[in-house]
Amino acid sequence: MKNLCVLVMAAGKGTRMKSATPKVLQPVLDRPIIDYVMGNAISAGINQEDLAVLVGSGGEEVEAHIKEKFPNVKILWQHEQLGTGHAVKTARDFWSEYENLIVLNGDLPMMKPESLQKLISSAGQNDCTVITFEAENPGAYGRIIRSKNSVSIVEYKDASPEQREIREVNAGCYAFKVKSLLRIIDSITNNNAQKEYYITDALSLMNESGMTTGAFIMPESEMQGVNTQEELANVSREMRREILTHWMKEGVRIVDPDTVYIGADVVLSHDVTIMPNVQIWGRCVIGEGSYIGSGSIITSSILGENVIVTAYAVIENSILSNNAKAGPFCYIRDHTVLEERAFAGKFVELKNSRIGEGSKVPHLSYMGDATLGHDVNIGAGSITCNYDGVNKNKTHIGNNCFIGSNTMFVAPVEVGEGSTTAAGSVITQRVPENSLGVGRARQTNIADWSLRNHHHKTTTEGDK
Ligand code: UD1
Ligand code: MG
Repeated sequence: MKNLCVLVMAAGKGTRMKSATPKVLQPVLDRPIIDYVMGNAISAGINQEDLAVLVGSGGEEVEAHIKEKFPNVKILWQHEQLGTGHAVKTARDFWSEYENLIVLNGDLPMMKPESLQKLISSAGQNDCTVITFEAENPGAYGRIIRSKNSVSIVEYKDASPEQREIREVNAGCYAFKVKSLLRIIDSITNNNAQKEYYITDALSLMNESGMTTGAFIMPESEMQGVNTQEELANVSREMRREILTHWMKEGVRIVDPDTVYIGADVVLSHDVTIMPNVQIWGRCVIGEGSYIGSGSIITSSILGENVIVTAYAVIENSILSNNAKAGPFCYIRDHTVLEERAFAGKFVELKNSRIGEGSKVPHLSYMGDATLGHDVNIGAGSITCNYDGVNKNKTHIGNNCFIGSNTMFVAPVEVGEGSTTAAGSVITQRVPENSLGVGRARQTNIADWSLRNHHHKTTTEGDK
């Protein structure tokens, strides 16, 4: 018989969220609640094969999400959500093959692996052990009734006024001896205020049959359940603080922690500076000495060492190599790479492009599907015409090119190494190496045109 498995209950309707999104997929920062719960179980050392999630309400969406993120976790269905007791019972075929069962509410994103490990190591000591916490405001949590040698739980809606005064509450994490749970689980009824089958009734049933029950207290900060939008916002705020505190301890300088958001999957180095109003999301990695200026939003990108993002840059799924520089006001997206010392400046958009070492795109440009060699300079207002209405086409600009302002590259097109384009050129054909590409109408001047023009005013008249 296998020793221990974990069942995460995630089938509930989440009625109190008043949202079309299933509760466990509601985001805390940039990750759904359920990801924290699953991540916690996996970090505590549970193999995905010994981990099951019970889905039901919005189950297709939850199932698809779990399959993508945690492909080896078992997915079980609770088609009708008749309460947490019914939920555990529905999963009986999964857990009855084990000696011990850990049951976790799916709405506990703040819990830490060390706390789960503590529950895991308590497995087998009692027929049931639960985690509790002292609630600042015990609200609708189940109240813990302690007597000399046992613990039971009374749900808020069924509690007497005296019981409602109790501040020690049920966190929704249980360690059961499977053999003992099997003996009482069919005795759980829905004879209560909510007409639901409560898993919390397992404790009193066990006590009545002479089994042992126990509880240990954990900090409230880890044990908050998310049942309402307000609780979601509270938990998100605490999670945000926790992540910022962690990175500050690692030597990251966060100038104004009240305005900075960093997701749980971000990895930073010491001596990174983060200015006010910055957001960093997804799987980002930022190297030593880099500087992220105000108003920047960086998602799933890799920044090397000493990268400078001046201010108001939006960077997505891209790589900025060591000493690269971006901003202010630029948008870098879709697998763009800035090689070392490359620069994307003011009002510049880069999409799926590679900007070679030391190359510069300083002002008002769009480079899409382009590769630039090293030490290229792109004049202000230059643009790749990469889309012909059907296909995206590539532009290649060789090393050491000097691109005149307002050059249009009608892709697919190529400029050989060491070449120059004249300002205002529309480049439709290859420019060979070391050449000047000129693609614009010649200027003609019409003499005395102003004097013949009725609307023309001399400078003196104009001053009146
Ligand atoms: C539950 C506990 C309460 C505890 C609190 C801690 C019960 C009866 N009450 O209350 O004592 O203080 O958690 O946060 O267990 N779920 C299912 N199927 C169902 C019903 C619920 O899978 O039929 C899942 C939900 O998706 C959720 C978890 O079980 O993840 C808990 O359900 P929820 O409705 O949030 O219970 P609470 O009222 O918070
Ligand atoms: Mg809850």
